[in-house]
Amino acid sequence: MRLPIIAGNWKMNTTVEQAIELVQEMRGRLDKVEGVEKVLCPPFISLSAVGELIGSSSIRLGAQNLYFEEKGAYTGEVSPLMLVGLCEYVILGHSERRHYFVETDEMVNLKVKAALKVGLKPILCVGERLEENEAGKTEEVVTRQVKGALAGIAPSEGLVVAYEPVWAIGSGKAATEEQANTTIGLIRHILSQLYGEQFSQAIRIQYGGSVTSANIAEFVAQPEIDGALVGGASLIATEFLGIVEQTAKAKRG
Ligand code: PGA
Repeated sequence: MRLPIIAGNWKMNTTVEQAIELVQEMRGRLDKVEGVEKVLCPPFISLSAVGELIGSSSIRLGAQNLYFEEKGAYTGEVSPLMLVGLCEYVILGHSERRHYFVETDEMVNLKVKAALKVGLKPILCVGERLEENEAGKTEEVVTRQVKGALAGIAPSEGLVVAYEPVWAIGSGKAATEEQANTTIGLIRHILSQLYGEQFSQAIRIQYGGSVTSANIAEFVAQPEIDGALVGGASLIATEFLGIVEQTAKAKRG
């Protein structure tokens, strides 16, 4: 049995003060939910404050990016070493980074390597754009992204993959649960080719893209879907709590 994982990607939202308020609003109830791993991914500048607030609770912390060099003249970047001790997870290869910051599969690969090297757990994001989806290229794109990101990397239990069709992100138009389940099954198949059946059965693969408390139950009822990477809805305490609690309920059966 894979432990479902719900991660909140706050993106470039919340000041430190607002981040603190948001955590204070949900941490009590969030901490109590069992059978789901709960991860908050605030902006870099709020990692410390949020980390202090969640303390030794069952809530986990993640960053939204890193740079693949350990240190040096890279103005404005954050290195993997700087995140060690501050958080456990790091979102890598998010489509917004690929799009706005021109991150390639090669860069995502370097970032995944750099994260694993220091013991951070990557949440590796992949997903096709609308025109690729409409051209029937979902399988091709996702295969390229997964293989590209993991090239030369040994199997690591800490790895989480998030399938996020770009057209579903922030659009209010989520994929259907069948679509998501099919593509996630494909990703699991690619992982089994790369690392073997046992590994691919153990690794957690999330769905992401317009997940809300109203649709999460349908996604996590699918056999291949092990949770969600949540953007917009993770900024509303009651929504995020609803998503986590419904996941716990659905996976308990
Ligand atoms: P969304 O974002 O839930 O707002 O669609 C998901 C994501 O980008 O991780």
